[in-house]
Amino acid sequence: MPQQVKGVIARSKGAPTELVVINVPDPGPGEAVVTIQACGVCHTDLHYREGGIGEDFPYLLGHEAAGIVESVGEGVRDLQPGDYVILNWRAVCGSCRACKRGRPWYCFSTFNATQKMTLEDGTELSPALGIGAFIDKTLVAAGQCTKVDPAARPAAAGLLGCGVMAGIGAAINTGNVSRGDSVAVIGCGGVGSAAIAGSLLAGAAKIIAIDIDDNKLQTATQLGATHVINSTNVDPVEAMQQLTGGFGPDVVIDAVGRPETWKQAFYGRDLAGTLVLVGVPTPEMTVELPLLDVFGRGGSLKSSWYGDCLPERDFPMLINLYLQGRLPLDAFVTEEISVAQLEAAFDKMHRGQVLRSVVIFADAAGAAA
Ligand SMILES: NC(=O)c1ccc[n+]([C@@H]2O[C@H](COP(=O)([O-])OP(=O)(O)OC[C@H]3O[C@@H](n4cnc5c(N)ncnc54)[C@H](O)[C@@H]3O)[C@@H](O)[C@H]2O)c1
Ligand SMILES: [Zn+2]
Ligand SMILES: [Zn+2]
Repeated sequence: MPQQVKGVIARSKGAPTELVVINVPDPGPGEAVVTIQACGVCHTDLHYREGGIGEDFPYLLGHEAAGIVESVGEGVRDLQPGDYVILNWRAVCGSCRACKRGRPWYCFSTFNATQKMTLEDGTELSPALGIGAFIDKTLVAAGQCTKVDPAARPAAAGLLGCGVMAGIGAAINTGNVSRGDSVAVIGCGGVGSAAIAGSLLAGAAKIIAIDIDDNKLQTATQLGATHVINSTNVDPVEAMQQLTGGFGPDVVIDAVGRPETWKQAFYGRDLAGTLVLVGVPTPEMTVELPLLDVFGRGGSLKSSWYGDCLPERDFPMLINLYLQGRLPLDAFVTEEISVAQLEAAFDKMHRGQVLRSVVIFADAAGAAA
């Protein structure tokens, strides 16, 4: 029987979010219904609400979630009711040109649920990043459920589903940060702080945190930054270079995604250094550069989609590191809130007061028991 549950939608561009009744179909072939226990509030949800990602309103928001599989559809073999999972937005297809070349982290044809969740009047919803998890139960493709050790609490584990994975992966997968490297991270919100934690995990010798907010820089230090720069007071390009013998870091990660921060990363890194763009720009943003600088500075200019992660490879491994006390996922959970406090959480994010607010779903208690 299709179920009716409560979930958070963005009905139209810029309008406040609404908690409404949503129809969730039974899982069809290759699909699963998951009871959500916790879902983090990511900047991307705010981008959706503001129309920065697309015009496919209404959106069902939320995508950094952990929960319990309630039911699975026909043909689903690796997943069963009761499994504890983190939801991912990269269920790789295995047959697109990227997958066939052995680069599934670029998969161009990832799986999402085939059926649609709808409003009571039948209007079809667009789930954020193909997930939609500010809801008691959601419908996803079975491959979007990655099983992890249930000892990891949902509020922390769910964060690996997007921002924290994107940040860690920007450092260790895309940036290939290695032992002894110097790294700078511009923008120390949830994603940038995770890039700092990832750089520490990878053995970086120097980790420079750059932000315009002193509170964020303080948290960055707790997560492993060895130096901090408040770029409202000083030129970050000069400061990065001064801290690295006048040369610049080996890898600079832009976790803001604005033309000015990208340029800081471009000019701040060492010659032949790596720039990783993980912050998401908006459609009107452009950069203009002397082509000779692009040639003359060399190195690589990369984007990091979801930290170039493979959920099946990376989530269980990172959860194990968390349970061993080697990855401080709890430090990313600034507050646990109810779904009714989501708009306030967006405000706090906007004012830079949180790394992550995490929505806890009361109804999930029964599923976890
Ligand atoms: N590439 C991906 O797969 C992926 C995944 C998740 C999120 N993101 C994107 O990453 C970005 C960051 O997300 P978040 O959740 O960490 O956001 P956030 O709002 O928590 O953090 C942004 C941080 O940047 C800082 N900042 C803003 N302007 C700055 C500037 N000019 N210089 C230095 N610091 C500045 C803010 O003070 C804040 O600390 C967003 O654009 C988000 O959409 C990308
Ligand atoms: Zn593919
Ligand atoms: Zn996200």
